[in-house]
Amino acid sequence: MKVLVVGSGGREHTIVWKLSQSPLVKEIYCAPGNPGIGQLAKNVDIAVDDLDGLVDFSREMSIDMTIVGPEVPLVLGITDKFKEAGQNIIGPSKAGAKLEGSKSFSKSFMMKYNIPTGGYTEVDSYDEAIKSLDKYEYPLVIKADGLAAGKGVLICQNKTEAEKGLKEIMLDKVFGDSGNKVVIEEFLEGIETSVLCFVDGKSIVPMVSSQDHKRIYDGDKGPNTGGMGTYSPNYVYTEEVAKIVEKTILKPTLEGIQKEGMDYKGIIFIGLMITKDGPKVLEYNVRFGDPETQVVLPRLETDLMQIFNHMIDEKLSDIEIKWNDKAVVCVVLASGGYPGDYEKGIEIKGIDDISGDTIVFHAGTAIKDGKLVTNGGRVLSVTSWANDIETARREVYKNVDKIDFKGRSYRTDIAVR
Ligand code: AMP
Ligand code: GLY
Repeated sequence: MKVLVVGSGGREHTIVWKLSQSPLVKEIYCAPGNPGIGQLAKNVDIAVDDLDGLVDFSREMSIDMTIVGPEVPLVLGITDKFKEAGQNIIGPSKAGAKLEGSKSFSKSFMMKYNIPTGGYTEVDSYDEAIKSLDKYEYPLVIKADGLAAGKGVLICQNKTEAEKGLKEIMLDKVFGDSGNKVVIEEFLEGIETSVLCFVDGKSIVPMVSSQDHKRIYDGDKGPNTGGMGTYSPNYVYTEEVAKIVEKTILKPTLEGIQKEGMDYKGIIFIGLMITKDGPKVLEYNVRFGDPETQVVLPRLETDLMQIFNHMIDEKLSDIEIKWNDKAVVCVVLASGGYPGDYEKGIEIKGIDDISGDTIVFHAGTAIKDGKLVTNGGRVLSVTSWANDIETARREVYKNVDKIDFKGRSYRTDIAVR
């Protein structure tokens, strides 16, 4: 089969790496890809939001299956376009992608289908937002309704911070139209877990659990990022918790997807908080997580392409999906300054010195004058696996130490309990 992967991050490198191991896959293209992906696939210079360009490429090249990495093309409706053109694609329709594209929509979906989540208020004017602050205790959470590249969620410790956040989102429009509406939400305390699931519209099948570390600094300090590191399995996600999640979250989520008539053949990634009152949903994402994918897919034993084929045929329940018992840890190396401004074009050294059960997935990298250089906020995802988390952690940090670029930053406490 000929496949096209849409995206250019560590998540897409991991998907391409896994697909490259499938005997069913003969050729892989990636749009736009990155230098790491380029070692396994042919990079194609089409942007992820150029939906017409992607459809045309897929048709002209007779691509058998397209897999979408990031949320933006899904929210723009890439799946509907591919379907109209008769092309196979893994990713929900525009109607399904709204579960990530609008926080107010996803919260009302959770209410309608009785899915445990934090209490919230939805507001579409600044004055109304300020008034509703009095209903909540601190900390409280403010979320821009639309997409904001993982930066639209503010945890406010007091009223001054909340007012400042609301002003930035609703009046200064730091996230543009994404801030026309805001969700004000109860702060949930507990341990976060990411559960990615395969969905074919008829069934929902969870992958192994993982935990992301969203804040930029050690000890969960500083602003939120796209994710600074992950590990799998997540120690809080016991079999008992998994059973509760299956019953109270996965089943009703699938029921909602069906009843709302969403055409959903893709990934749903459920961000959970395991609270003292049980698991509650923080958010839905309608795609693989980044860097969750980097620790989940190395544990997949079943052929990923075979799973995608079953999803297209709505026969996900016919295939047994197997996982290994390895522990996997991923540490993100970021550019100095990320998630704020950062420099690009800095030479990356030492990537060929990595050793052991470790792989370096590329994210923001480029080739300049024949050298590998930085080209984004999150630059590399260094990922190691072993029989237990402690060994995988030692292994990953031993390899992180070998890679250097000026300003490099990373967390030293990924997977520390
Ligand atoms: P979201 O994009 O909604 O997942 O939010 C990003 C991050 O903000 C989550 O991964 C959590 O770390 C945090 N967060 C979001 N909602 C809440 C909440 N209600 N309580 C506590 N933390 C939250
Ligand atoms: N790591 C969180 C996300 O992919 O949204």
